[in-house]
Amino acid sequence: MRRTMVAGNWKMHGTRASVAELIVGLRALSLPTGVDVAVFPPSLYIGQVIDGLQGLPVAVGAQNAAVQSKQGALTGELASTQLQDAGCTLVLVGHSERRQIIGETDAALIAKFTAAQEGGLTPVLCVGETLEEREAGKTLEVVGHQLGSVIEALGIKAFVNAVIAYEPVWAIGTGLTATPQQAQDVHAAIRAQLQAEDADVAQAVRLLYGGSVKAANAVELFGMPDIDGGLIGGASLNADEFGAICRAAGN
Ligand code: PGA
Repeated sequence: MRRTMVAGNWKMHGTRASVAELIVGLRALSLPTGVDVAVFPPSLYIGQVIDGLQGLPVAVGAQNAAVQSKQGALTGELASTQLQDAGCTLVLVGHSERRQIIGETDAALIAKFTAAQEGGLTPVLCVGETLEEREAGKTLEVVGHQLGSVIEALGIKAFVNAVIAYEPVWAIGTGLTATPQQAQDVHAAIRAQLQAEDADVAQAVRLLYGGSVKAANAVELFGMPDIDGGLIGGASLNADEFGAICRAAGN
């Protein structure tokens, strides 16, 4: 049985004051047992969040880590070993905003995936197609390539300690959510691709859906057989809404 996971990606949002407020809100939630809950604050606030969530069953992750696991001369970056030292257990790899806006390549994110694991973090690999690609009927091809490039470079066993998030780019921050069936279709294809390499890994790896998830649509999405939880952007900035999504995953 795969444990459900709900992860909040705060992106580049927050101030010391608003993060403090969000911590108070998270501390007040009644979180379901049986769901792994995580938050990904901006790196600047990771220490504040880890201190603030002491004692709560909420993991903290980073939104990005360097291509190398060890500290060194790499201005502006954070090594996975440093993030681990700060108390992080997870890191996002290949979010579409980093692929598209920062120009992160497959090669860079493959290096980051490896460095994350070397540094003791679990990578959450994000994949997803643009609207143009979906309309051209290329969804499975694009997602298959994004996942395939990592499998090819690192081998299927790299997914023993990893999470995959399917996030259609057209659904991120737009209020447009993939229908549960659209999401399930892609999740099933991802699992089949893993299955072709290693059945045990395929059955164990958690596949999260991301893209305008809110409390109102979470139950239906999380009810699909290959959707093991969600990666939540906007809605994770509101503690009560995030809590409701976590409880939806616990049902
Ligand atoms: P959203 O973002 O929930 O605001 O659509 C999801 C994500 O980018 O992880």
